[in-house]
Amino acid sequence: MRSVNDFRLRFGKQELVPIVCGGMGVDISTAGLALEVARLGGIGHISDAMVQTVSDRRFHTQFVKEKAKLYKYNVASADKSGVRFDLDRLAEATQMHVGRTMEAKRGDGMIFVNCMEKLTMNAPRDTLRVRLGAALDAGVDGITLSAGLHLGSFALIEDHPRFRDAKLGIIVSSLRALQLFLRKSARLDRLPDFIVVEGPLAGGHLGFGADDWNRFDLRTIVAEIARYLQAEQLAIPLIPAGGIFTGSDAVSFLEDGAAAVQVATRFTVTRECGLPDKIKQEYFRSTEDEVVVNTISPTGYPMRMLIGSPAIGAGIRPNCEAYGYLLDSSGNCAYVTAYNREVALHPDAKKLSVQDKTCLCTHMRNFDCWTCGHYVYRLKDTSRRLPDGSYQVLTAEHVFRDYQFSVDHEVALPAHPGPSPTS
Ligand SMILES: Cc1cc2nc3c(=O)[nH]c(=O)nc-3n(C[C@H](O)[C@H](O)[C@H](O)COP(=O)(O)O)c2cc1C
Repeated sequence: MRSVNDFRLRFGKQELVPIVCGGMGVDISTAGLALEVARLGGIGHISDAMVQTVSDRRFHTQFVKEKAKLYKYNVASADKSGVRFDLDRLAEATQMHVGRTMEAKRGDGMIFVNCMEKLTMNAPRDTLRVRLGAALDAGVDGITLSAGLHLGSFALIEDHPRFRDAKLGIIVSSLRALQLFLRKSARLDRLPDFIVVEGPLAGGHLGFGADDWNRFDLRTIVAEIARYLQAEQLAIPLIPAGGIFTGSDAVSFLEDGAAAVQVATRFTVTRECGLPDKIKQEYFRSTEDEVVVNTISPTGYPMRMLIGSPAIGAGIRPNCEAYGYLLDSSGNCAYVTAYNREVALHPDAKKLSVQDKTCLCTHMRNFDCWTCGHYVYRLKDTSRRLPDGSYQVLTAEHVFRDYQFSVDHEVALPAHPGPSPTS
């Protein structure tokens, strides 16, 4: 019986353990988590979502405070079109987050940055160009383009000296999305170095409809894309993602020809993951009926999350002056619209509830949107219950090794925690 360790992901001469820990914004896939995965020989992701907030937390910079101060005058206004990112400051924050992570890298693996197109930041092209360019400047091994079709993204960095040497790939959920992207990249004579095929059971935003995601199946989409690439004689590594919970799940994709697998949910309950410990316990304790796919994200993409997420139904004042990552090119965000509608309907209310959209920037920043993969409710089977009823938080190394070496759908439990100093 084979394990993931019997396979290797090959990028040119470089060989990697074919396990990719997917990007989890906002700083859920921390530098610490990505570094650990890279140390063990796989590919770890950091995310550049809300990078200024992340930098403030990591390096005690003041990016958010400065921006909030600059636009303080606008807080009560419904018109957010004047709230802009300073591109130099954006580059600085990105370079710090990515650069310091790369400096700390040890081992044979790689570190990529997950870059979501839907973070339109009130100037989609300019901000994306800066984000991608700054990540390359800072020496990142690769970039995974996500949450969007990215039809113009390669062109934004075609003049960058690292455009042809960094590993650049994209996440798609359908052959059609891939075809559109390939058509554009062919014009630049630059194919993606890898393609993550994300199915309907993934965490974060989904590339399917909120009502019909369960009609799709990862294996079928991967097979369709593989057939297409073969017919076109394109040898691009395919990396399935979404619902790959055990090493054996991974092996079955690798045996079918996948180059690697991308996983995330199992790493949410590791020490290195950025979620606060209390929330890791929410993930452990969750049950299947608490996992929902809804449309509260202002991005327009459905999102999977736990029903207990404080973000659901919250009616806070939009925080675009401090954040503003989801403002489109006209300065609109679906949450701002929904919030203003509720204000108009309930002018005297002390506390509002907005059911259809959420202020995703604020809630992701505060870990109040508990996004997760479909199999989050199986996490309890990957750990031990402690005497106080909580679950033992795992190490990223434990989860990585379990994917790498387990067979027969077994999940290795962690070693018993030692006795506490007081016992
Ligand atoms: C907590 C969480 C946050 C995520 N955030 C992002 C994100 O910011 N960008 C992205 O492209 N994918 C995101 N994802 C998707 C993962 O990178 C990954 O592709 C997917 O969840 C893999 O499926 P699995 O969780 O079932 O293993 C997120 C997933 C989780 C669980």
